[in-house]
Order: sequence, then structure tokens, then C-alpha cells
Amino acid sequence: MNIAILISGRGSNMKSILQAIQGGEIEGVKDVIVVSNRSTAPGLEIARKEFGVKTLIVLPEENGQMYDKKLMTELQRNEIFEHNSLICLAGFMRILKPEFIKAYKNKIVNIHPSLLPSFKGLHAQKQALLAGVKITGCTVHLVDVGIDTGPILLQECVPVHDNDTIESLSARILIEEHKIYVKALKLLSANKFLLKGNRMVQI
Ligand code: GRF
Repeated sequence: MNIAILISGRGSNMKSILQAIQGGEIEGVKDVIVVSNRSTAPGLEIARKEFGVKTLIVLPEENGQMYDKKLMTELQRNEIFEHNSLICLAGFMRILKPEFIKAYKNKIVNIHPSLLPSFKGLHAQKQALLAGVKITGCTVHLVDVGIDTGPILLQECVPVHDNDTIESLSARILIEEHKIYVKALKLLSANKFLLKGNRMVQI
């Protein structure tokens, strides 16, 4: 199996995935690449220098309309196809078009910093604070054509403390993100999930 990790920024989830791959925790991984839509994403250097992983920068053009085609071409050039790969979104700040998602059906995984279906979209931690919930968390899910709506693989709860700020809550959630993203990839690579309707069950 080949893995493409798509990032736009810091890349801490990417880092924990790369650690797990290089530590042999995820079965059958042949090749890994990291792709960013931003040339300044700090995660790019981490991938190259700390892990010796190939990185690609796929920048959007002026109107951005052809981005997904360009991305797919680059991925395919690097042997990332539906039949042999997983695409892990890890803080990738672009919405992928339905054609792209259909071309990699059930092969695109995302991490979101809330207990979906609560607090979809941007600033999920701020949304949780504004809503006054006492428990939030994170979700690893397959990507479908909706925004943060695909079948859920794993979730973890995180308490919200009375004195939390967006930063402190985000940091507490991030620790759990790193754990469940790796765990989900381990289970996926070992074929331990079965899709029943919109429910992902473990087998
Ligand atoms: C994480 O909070 C992730 O859940 C969200 O974007 C953030 C990316 O952080 N989708 P990092 O780049 O992995 O550190």
C-alpha cells in the first residue's frame, strides 16, 4: 500500500503518522509521500529532514478551478491510485471536489477536531467553546462529498475545562488526534473495518 499525506501547515498529525509508518506499526506500507498546497508549510521540512520522505508542492493556480486535476495527476505520477493507496488529509485546508473523492472512493481519510457530526467545518474547537459543551473530542473519518460527513472510523472524547481557551482546548484535543489517526490507519491497513451503510464497524 502507498500513502499520500496531504498537509497545509504545521504537520503534527503527519508527523505522528510518519513515526508510526517508520516504526513498522502500519502494515504493508510501500511508499509514502507528503503533498502540500502551500510551499511554506512547516510540515514539508519535517517530512524531508526528520523522515527522509519525498515531498511535493502542488500550488493552486490563479482561479483554482483545475486544482484537483493537477493534484490527481501528481499523485498518480507517484503511484497513488485508488486500488493501492490511502490518502490521509492532515490539516489540508482545501475542499476536494466530488470527482476527486469519487476517483479515490473510501480511500481518503480525514481527522477533524470535534466529535462529528457536531462542529463541522472550520474552527471546531472555538465552536465547541461557544456552544458551551462539556465534552468534545476528535474524529477520524472517511471523506465523502459532504463537508466532514463521511463514515466515522474512530472517535475520542476530550473534556472541556471551565478555564479553557481555544489554544488549551486545541492542544488537549491534538494529543488525542495523534493517537486515533494512527490507530485508524493501523486498523484500515489490516482490513479491520467493514462499511455497513454509513456505519464503519470493526471486524
Ligand atoms: C488538526 O487539528 C486537524 O484536526 C485539523 O487541522 C489541524 C492540523 O494540525 N484538520 P496539524 O497540521 O496536523 O498539526
